[in-house]
Amino acid sequence: MNKEKIYILLESQIDETDFNNFKKTIENIRSKIPQNKKAPNQNDLSFVIEDLDQILSSKTLDRAKYYLKRTLKALTKVKTNKINDINLNRWKNYQDIITDSLWLIGKRDKTGAHNGAYWGNFVPQIPNQLIKRYTKKNDWVLDTFLGSGTTLIECKRLGRNGVGVELLSKVVKLAKENIDKENNPYEIKTEIIKGDSTSINFKEEIEKLKTKNFQLVIMHPPYWDIIKFSKNKKDLSNTKTQKEFLKNFGEIVDGVTPVLQKGRYLAVVIGDKYSNGEWIPLAFNTMQEVLNRGYKLKSTIVKNFDETKGKMKQKELWRYRALAGGFYIFKHEYIFIFQKP
Ligand SMILES: C[S@@+](CC[C@H](N)C(=O)[O-])C[C@H]1O[C@@H](n2cnc3c(N)ncnc32)[C@H](O)[C@@H]1O
Repeated sequence: MNKEKIYILLESQIDETDFNNFKKTIENIRSKIPQNKKAPNQNDLSFVIEDLDQILSSKTLDRAKYYLKRTLKALTKVKTNKINDINLNRWKNYQDIITDSLWLIGKRDKTGAHNGAYWGNFVPQIPNQLIKRYTKKNDWVLDTFLGSGTTLIECKRLGRNGVGVELLSKVVKLAKENIDKENNPYEIKTEIIKGDSTSINFKEEIEKLKTKNFQLVIMHPPYWDIIKFSKNKKDLSNTKTQKEFLKNFGEIVDGVTPVLQKGRYLAVVIGDKYSNGEWIPLAFNTMQEVLNRGYKLKSTIVKNFDETKGKMKQKELWRYRALAGGFYIFKHEYIFIFQKP
């Protein structure tokens, strides 16, 4: 039984006055709805079954009809907000969208063009979640530290236009190869700009693309000098001090702010670092740079990560060091969500 048929049958019960007849008919409709054994997605009708169970457990006909009207609305009307395509009338169907501030992401998504080979990349689930939550189809996403192209691959999958900036030629080449491998079912545009995000004129870039502004900015900078990406002086992983790192990061925020649409979101993915026996709160210091520029903090997300391959072999050694040295081993990084006022 399809959606339209269910709607017609349910609607016919709006004028029913006998509670027993009403319940019998609803039970009958419920038995004909195909059950989906997997997690709900945007298209399946499992939510109707849940709704009908609620209707059937109602103690009065009035209450049952109140729920019935809600189900009819969920079957026909689309209710979205200004920043994404999530149909709030069917919010239960979006089990794939995380709403908790603790992200325990299991295996890296290695499907399609995602391969995880670039050292220092993020799991595709991060841009996937951010794009679904903070953009609509055909919106524009900017990633100021493109790396291997993860964000733009997700843009292609989800039907958003994407622009990525990457400083290093060889990484630009790698990103292009990766992005080209992914299909483009929604025929969106992806652009890679080879350059230094601290000095790019984003206003000029966006004019070239013939659009007014970006609806989401994702920033996944080097975690200062933890991984050295190159010897290039403009590379944020080569900044000599934390102060210099934060200054350069802040300049990028200054550059993107005029091209981020008002009310839209900026996400920063970053971790802390440990140096000379001291935990450096690099992530919070970086967060402060964005707050200093008038953004509103919407969430601080803690995301788990697995040991890097190197550390995995030295697991026992690190455990010993932690016990002896009074510190904890890094198992998380942060995703800060900001809204441009
Ligand atoms: C943490 S990685 C980003 C990885 C990316 N999210 C991915 O999934 O592959 C940071 C990237 O920023 C680049 N980078 C460093 N300084 C930069 C700058 N000033 N402008 C643009 N890119 C820069 C590095 O070369 C590196 O590829």
